[in-house]
Amino acid sequence: MTDSQAAGTVPPFVSFEDVGLTYAAGTSSAVEALRNISFGVGQHRFVSILGPSGCGKSTLLRLLAGFLRPTAGRISVGGVDPEVARSTGMLGVVFQSPVLLPWLRVIDNVAFLLELKGVARTEREAIAMQFIDLVGLRGFERHMPYQLSGGMQQRVSIARALAFGPSVLLMDEPFGALDALTRDRMALELLDIWKRDQKTVLFVTHSVQEAVLLSDEVLVMSPRPGRISVVRPVALGRPRSKAQRHEREFVEHCKRLFDDLDADAALGV
Ligand SMILES: Nc1ncnc2c1ncn2[C@@H]1O[C@H](COP(=O)(O)OP(=O)(O)OP(=O)(O)O)[C@@H](O)[C@H]1O
Ligand SMILES: [Mg+2]
Repeated sequence: MTDSQAAGTVPPFVSFEDVGLTYAAGTSSAVEALRNISFGVGQHRFVSILGPSGCGKSTLLRLLAGFLRPTAGRISVGGVDPEVARSTGMLGVVFQSPVLLPWLRVIDNVAFLLELKGVARTEREAIAMQFIDLVGLRGFERHMPYQLSGGMQQRVSIARALAFGPSVLLMDEPFGALDALTRDRMALELLDIWKRDQKTVLFVTHSVQEAVLLSDEVLVMSPRPGRISVVRPVALGRPRSKAQRHEREFVEHCKRLFDDLDADAALGV
């Protein structure tokens, strides 16, 4: 243990310090999406973000991915600026809607980021096939994106982010377009990968149960301008299983989060 660890002064792996984001700042169409956002996420933690539509969850992930710069405050990932973290391959992103390259087959979409990294064809195709299998798309590897359903396209984009092997995964409602059974299966696969590869995950979801099933901690956001209204630790053992969802402790965690969301809505903030 280092001195700073012993003193409890190790900065969090992901940190937001008083971050604000106003779109089109200084114009008549300015929208203040986030205000005074401060939180930290430890390395190898699984943290979910819950909040009503429009509260700024995607904006928060875009800032963390380095696609947007905050208009106030400071963000760091692994001690560096988000743009640096992204350019060095530390970050993997799954967007709310699948962003696939329409002229590439499924296997080439999944292998695309590995190609940019300079991984040789045979190796990158083998890695891509492993993740295509994982998301249940074996048999579709030679299809084009337009030949897939929305949920299948989303699974391609999940496979692409995982195949790249980032240490930090940013996932924006990754399972939103999936049927209930596939969604559960993918959630548990994600937990296996998170544990095995010691990733740090920030996961946006609208499902309270999914947040509780997966997370070490849940950040609850209040309506626009988005703020973190409460941070709830999920004190449930691991490994997690679907069966836990019927247990009293699990249900109590969900109830508390529903109450948090209701309280924010009632305040009308
Ligand atoms: N590119 C943009 N330009 C201007 N305003 C934007 C832009 N993107 C988002 N906003 C605004 O910022 C606010 C937050 O949007 P954001 O997409 O982050 O919400 P969200 O919490 O992800 O919502 P949802 O749950 O519906 O996905 C909204 O008021 C939205 O109108
Ligand atoms: Mg969103």
